[in-house]
Amino acid sequence: MDRTLTLLGIESSCDDTAAAVVRLTPGQAPEILSSTVLGQTALHAAFGGVVPEIAARAHAERLDGVVEEALVSAGLTLDALDGIAVTAGPGLIGGVLSGVMLARGLAASRGLPLMPVNHLAGHALTPRLTDGIAFPYLMLLVSGGHCQFLLVEGVDRFRRLGGTIDDAPGEAFDKTAKLLGLPQPGGPAVEAEALLGDPKRFTFPRPLLDRDGCDMSFSGLKTALLRARDTLIAAQGGITVQDRRDLCTGFQAAVAEVLAVKTARALALSGKVTALAVAGGVAANSAIRAMLETVCARSGVPFLAPPLRLCTDNAAMIAWAGIERMRGGIPPSTDFVARPRWPLDDTAPAQLGSGKKGAKA
Ligand code: KG4
Ligand code: ZN
Repeated sequence: MDRTLTLLGIESSCDDTAAAVVRLTPGQAPEILSSTVLGQTALHAAFGGVVPEIAARAHAERLDGVVEEALVSAGLTLDALDGIAVTAGPGLIGGVLSGVMLARGLAASRGLPLMPVNHLAGHALTPRLTDGIAFPYLMLLVSGGHCQFLLVEGVDRFRRLGGTIDDAPGEAFDKTAKLLGLPQPGGPAVEAEALLGDPKRFTFPRPLLDRDGCDMSFSGLKTALLRARDTLIAAQGGITVQDRRDLCTGFQAAVAEVLAVKTARALALSGKVTALAVAGGVAANSAIRAMLETVCARSGVPFLAPPLRLCTDNAAMIAWAGIERMRGGIPPSTDFVARPRWPLDDTAPAQLGSGKKGAKA
């Protein structure tokens, strides 16, 4: 397809209500004309995780306004669009349905093509929006809900090389923060503490490193941390500020090493790739990033980390995936179903874990 494509993207699969307008003009780099993300952290804060019913209601109430804002800040009306892309899964089904119903209504009212998009494909295709990299590349998705290695071979060709069999790393950071009395989201708080800790004091397990392949496990790590904390409490009646820092350092080092070793394996399994790209909130962690960069340097593969606002949940990635699919000749569809689970790679074995932010794909 060799014409300018301007798509509205809608995302509501977890706890961010998002809309964006992205334009691709042939021969030019894609432009993000607007990207609005309305988070729900405060709504769920009291519950220690995302509550699906609260998320669904908030999406239903806020989607109209968020779409309006994205169009206004792009300086466009619906008439200027060439299509609408919407997250059709995987995720919390109530939220996904809200987005799909709105997108269906808008597309039908304007006679616009509707592109259903897999949320994970949105993340996986982001490096092409930000950096225009060529296929194939290896993608590491590390967030509060996802953790997987994807070999991205084409717009609609993904091979899942491995992933977590239980918690996602962001979930482990969040639980660690909770166990140590640090604020949520836990990642940034644990990282800040870890900077001041003694890396030699605690050595936590590196699960599944002894097992072939790229699968990972993070739930045992928090149990080990809990045990170390309780041992300190039993011996001293509590934990000191320095104990907390040292525990955070030990925990973060374990997560970073597991991710680094498994990334090296995934790269070895991938064959020749143009880059290793990361996405997800955990990719913001400097220690983890540094380890991944070292692995890439050793393998002679460029390391790519899109800006954080495009690494975490957003709708620009959904609009972009819609553009990629349209340009790739994949037909629009109106009779698709919203899916709570939707693995990108149907040939990979199903994952059993279910994260705090919904089913893992
Ligand atoms: O991608 P994201 O914004 O949302 C989804 O999970 O979908 O990721 C959020 C997760 C949270 O679990 C948060 O604790 C973690 O990313 N995170 C971090 C850091 N910043 C955010 N984890 C480790 N280090 C960080 N600096
Ligand atoms: Zn996501």
